[in-house]
Amino acid sequence: MEYKGSMAYDNDAFFENYLTRRNRETSPNNSIEKPALLELIGDVTDKRVLDLGCGDGKFGYELIDQGCSVYDGVEGSTNMVGKARETLAGTCGNVYHSTMEKWDYPTERYDLVISRLALHYIEELLPIFKKVYDSLQCDGSFVFSVQHPVLTSSIKSAVNSGKKTDWIVDDYFATGKRVEPWIDQQVVKYHRTIEEYFRLLVQAGFTIEYISECTPRSELFDSKEEYQRRKRIPLFLVFSCNL
Ligand SMILES: C[S@@+](CC[C@H](N)C(=O)[O-])C[C@H]1O[C@@H](n2cnc3c(N)ncnc32)[C@H](O)[C@@H]1O
Repeated sequence: MEYKGSMAYDNDAFFENYLTRRNRETSPNNSIEKPALLELIGDVTDKRVLDLGCGDGKFGYELIDQGCSVYDGVEGSTNMVGKARETLAGTCGNVYHSTMEKWDYPTERYDLVISRLALHYIEELLPIFKKVYDSLQCDGSFVFSVQHPVLTSSIKSAVNSGKKTDWIVDDYFATGKRVEPWIDQQVVKYHRTIEEYFRLLVQAGFTIEYISECTPRSELFDSKEEYQRRKRIPLFLVFSCNL
């Protein structure tokens, strides 16, 4: 079975397995993607934040702890929404159970829209980028991460993949649907080149301020071997955009 969008996260075994991996302190999300993203997000004090594909709400909890005044998460998976509501109970955080495609975005409400590793599940990205643009205040920003296009280009290495020490890049310019074997399931993702992300953002009206490929930083790794391994293949791509 092919899982699209947030569907895989409503398979209970997949969900539990994913959360265990995701929340390991040494996961690349924590040691590589998050530091790069936080640097681009900057100070969130008093900011109104929207998080697309917010997952279990842990990042929302941290942003609230750092002083954001509003935190709205949009999440398509029932399991994730349940977990996020648990995580954010007693805080100012809200979680909306909706797909990003169908959610009714308020106009000029947010200072910051973020999305972590969720937009590569979306087939038609331009309408989402346009809605994000309209939901931002005039000095607002949009910071998001996706799987690096080097990874999403081909599934050849994902089949039988153990630890990533090398990776086949193929069909790079043939953008579109990929069905990736991941945590014992077949998960649909959409491959885009860096150029395509850039073009869609510009088409939606954004100015791209910065692109990060999340270069690993030695001080964030416990072992030298892990640091050396993580310097071989880019895992994440982050865009920081303004209106
Ligand atoms: C890899 S997880 C990342 C979760 C969270 N952002 C994090 O970094 O921990 C991707 C999340 O995006 C959600 N998602 C995928 N497609 C979605 C869609 N079309 N609308 C809303 N949520 C979606 C999934 O349910 C999942 O929670």
